[in-house]
Amino acid sequence: MADELSALIAGLTQAQKTISPKYFYDETGSALFDEITKLPEYYLTRTELDIMRTHIDEMASLVGPQASLIEFGSGSSLKTRMLLEHLDDLAVYVPVDISEEHLLASQRRIRDAFPHIDVLPVVADFMHPFQLPDPPTMPIRNVVYFPGSTIGNFEHDDAVDLLRVMHEEAGAGGALLIGVDLQKDPSVINAAYNDSAGVTARFNLNMLTHINREFGSDFDTSFFEHRATYRPDQGRVAVELVSMKRQDAQLGAETLSFAKGETILTEYSHKYTLDGFADMAAMAGFKVGHVWTDARQWFSVQYLVRS
Ligand code: TRP
Repeated sequence: MADELSALIAGLTQAQKTISPKYFYDETGSALFDEITKLPEYYLTRTELDIMRTHIDEMASLVGPQASLIEFGSGSSLKTRMLLEHLDDLAVYVPVDISEEHLLASQRRIRDAFPHIDVLPVVADFMHPFQLPDPPTMPIRNVVYFPGSTIGNFEHDDAVDLLRVMHEEAGAGGALLIGVDLQKDPSVINAAYNDSAGVTARFNLNMLTHINREFGSDFDTSFFEHRATYRPDQGRVAVELVSMKRQDAQLGAETLSFAKGETILTEYSHKYTLDGFADMAAMAGFKVGHVWTDARQWFSVQYLVRS
């Protein structure tokens, strides 16, 4: 708690103020994110699901029988379920998440829906290598699963580091199945992160409510505004909270001052070209085995193998 508070203060006293995206996800934030995935403008989840539905047999045959599926993040999404339904004779499903609570909840759901599948959750910060549990039967290969273009929420060097951890966890003969959002008409991307119903705005602002509750701070959410801007030259969306006036907020012992128009950066969402992503994957020791996209080439699901 004290460590978390000092990390928060450190981020909020930099020249570019930042808050870690982990503060998006309290109970309200998780429910709002669920709503985001159903918004008409938010093409990512829908498109990724369509790609998976269309190519699930081919994906399952690349993964092959008796694999160990290691999901980075506590899955239980529709996409995970689709995979679990189609994989042949899975050796074990290993969701990895920093939140024990999320893991146990998803483990329960997976066990209910797939009683024949062994689920061995691992509580770990997947930014760093971790010990895989001993599977009940020896898997033929490890396949890491990382859907949702969550890789895009990491800056380049961190994304490569994370891919390196995946490379290590996949082990010899292993692979990575990953969802990767692609560069496209900026108006499509901007609409996805600035939905007309204002759900993404509420999701972003909820971060301040969450921090107020947890740390007793007094951010006035009525004087911050959501902003998300896609910069095609940088290939990424910056998600920010903009201070609508000159104001102060008290966080622990720190008085934070905001100029009018000053921003807090809460998240990046990178959009890739297929070549750009292949280059990044290569830096982590992966080569692209297979890429599936939708007809508009808005999103991709990629099967990367160790090179
Ligand atoms: N990874 C997804 C994306 O970048 C989901 C997501 C993460 C998101 N943080 C977000 C969506 C903030 C909207 C706003 O789109």
